[in-house]
Amino acid sequence: MTDITIESVLQENRTFAPPTALAQAAHVSSMAQYEELYEKAKADPAGFWAELAEQELDWFKPWDKVLDWQPPFAKWFEGGKLNITYNCLDRHLTTWRKNKAAFIWEGEPGDSVTLTYAQLHRQVCKMANVLKDMGVSKGDRVGIYMPMIPEAAIAMLACARIGAAHSVVFGGFSAEALRDRLVDAKAKAVITADGGFRKDKVVHLKDAVDQALADNAVPSVQKVLVVQRTKSEVTMAAGRDIWWHEVEPDAAADCPAEPMDSEDLLFILYTSGSTGKPKGVVHTTAGYNLYTHMTLKWAFDLKDTDVYWCTADVGWITGHSYIVYGPLSNGATAVMYEGVPRPSNPGCFWDVVEKYGVTIFYTAPTAIRAFIKMGNDLPNARDLSSLRILGTVGEPINPEAWIWYHKVIGKERCPIVDTWWQTETGGFMLTPLPGATPTKPGSATKPFPGILADVVDMNGKPAGDDEGGYLVIKHPWPSMLRTVYGDEDRFRKTYWEQIEPKDGQYFYFAGDGARRDKDGYFWIMGRVDDVINVSGHRLGTMEIESALVSHPAVAESAVVGRPDDLKGEDIVAFVTLEGGATASEDLKAELKQHVVNEIGAIARPGEIRFAEALPKTRSGKIMRRLLRNLASGAEIAGDTSTLEDRTVLDKLRQGDPESA
Ligand code: PRX
Repeated sequence: MTDITIESVLQENRTFAPPTALAQAAHVSSMAQYEELYEKAKADPAGFWAELAEQELDWFKPWDKVLDWQPPFAKWFEGGKLNITYNCLDRHLTTWRKNKAAFIWEGEPGDSVTLTYAQLHRQVCKMANVLKDMGVSKGDRVGIYMPMIPEAAIAMLACARIGAAHSVVFGGFSAEALRDRLVDAKAKAVITADGGFRKDKVVHLKDAVDQALADNAVPSVQKVLVVQRTKSEVTMAAGRDIWWHEVEPDAAADCPAEPMDSEDLLFILYTSGSTGKPKGVVHTTAGYNLYTHMTLKWAFDLKDTDVYWCTADVGWITGHSYIVYGPLSNGATAVMYEGVPRPSNPGCFWDVVEKYGVTIFYTAPTAIRAFIKMGNDLPNARDLSSLRILGTVGEPINPEAWIWYHKVIGKERCPIVDTWWQTETGGFMLTPLPGATPTKPGSATKPFPGILADVVDMNGKPAGDDEGGYLVIKHPWPSMLRTVYGDEDRFRKTYWEQIEPKDGQYFYFAGDGARRDKDGYFWIMGRVDDVINVSGHRLGTMEIESALVSHPAVAESAVVGRPDDLKGEDIVAFVTLEGGATASEDLKAELKQHVVNEIGAIARPGEIRFAEALPKTRSGKIMRRLLRNLASGAEIAGDTSTLEDRTVLDKLRQGDPESA
């Protein structure tokens, strides 16, 4: 027995084999081939990655040493020199890809732009030269605060081109959040836009930048480059602010890629921990380039003929790795879309798929559940026959949503690639390979070759089959975070000292609970702090939520623990209902019984609360911390600045609609 027993009670036994034709043509086309790769990488991780680094990337100078592992600090490809933008741009210009679309971009109002590799290269060089003129040089940090427009990617690449590290702050974050991040990164410049279009409204980004920089709150920032998007009125500070469209025409269209050391800082990306201020996750150049390149190539079976679309925002790691660097390094065509499904155009995603013939579609469970709620008519009215692979990321996907995705979007033809990873891991860690791995709804399946994942107890002892425990990684991988920016101590404590190293074995602590079944499939049970202990039994919140969502009346649910004298903790479930369903006491009783039927009496919710909406972060994660406060009748404690819609909280406070 492990010392924690996250009991997994949800049984999902369906498996889905890769479609034969897809498997035959895939980069990795059978389980035997996957296992061969996995075993090869396990036996000699450094050799495995070195071989791929040589095959897949272009280097200005070869490395001296593949891996230098001085726990918890890893260095990959030391002595090597490269530039990630060379791999993403220049090397394609000498091939037929020169005039291939790198980005197909569509704006929320319906405007669109296609940038070929040659055009993208030109724009990146121009912005890189402008940055130089602004006084930005190698080693500096640049804040990027942008809507989802091509210039967001151009800005990232322009920084990397000259060896400046970018720190992208999601355009939905507030001025305060932006300020904190700019201060922590000691950014020298900021790249932003006048505004962006989101849900039919203009988001005034430049105003937020002005607010963040007001009163010299970020003394390190000297210049602000502003892209014109919405043409809304902005104030330009003389001597500080520069319009991109004014300097772009005269900027030189050539800027050689700065030779970077493999371990030079590529970017910082802030992510919230369960406590404290956001952590600046540090990623470096070569390992990140290689790992995002390989994972995208194999896990999405990326081919030159694909039209690949990841619906994330570049403000998140998913956007960094799998909208910008991974696709471009592979020479792919990537769709970039400014909009999100909104009342005026709920079917916009399916329009984009149809319009551009998207073949690979990568989104998040929270979006999938929203689509389910909107009904099948929207996707059914579009031609989705171009799709061949579907992906999901961000949270455990409940089997109900998985099956809907499989049937209604994938028409039972497209493998679903459930990718488990984190800002810290840089790239996919657990993922099916669509031509090889039989999938099970709700499981991120198996480790990517080269990833030694395990489920262990607090002492590092492996859990048995189907026994809950902590998800850990037992060997460094090329794109792992190198440190927390400016806080090595936090890096050690958060990730490497949760489980004490033993006999030279270090454990990267992911902060997720998981179990592994008898077939070696991993099942993520959510963050460790989202686990509820009822009468000494730990239950993954996701499993109870899955059960609830499988009831026809339920659209979405979030389950939290509430302190309970008898049981330790009791389960409180917040539930939003499907369009036609009506909140009532009878329905509450029915849902409780439904959970009992699905999982067992141990999981019976003590309370069901109906809600119009759940409090979510702008990235779509349910803010359980707030729900825990509400459930226990406590005051809302801590930071609520990442909440997408504050009125949701007020409505929840006022009680559920049924009792109103
Ligand atoms: O709890 C896991 C969940 O998201 C966390 C990482 O969040 P973030 O750094 O914001 O990165 C999200 C995009 C990579 C993980 O610790 N998570 C992510 N993907 C999955 C997931 N949980 C279950 N299944 C997934 N596929």
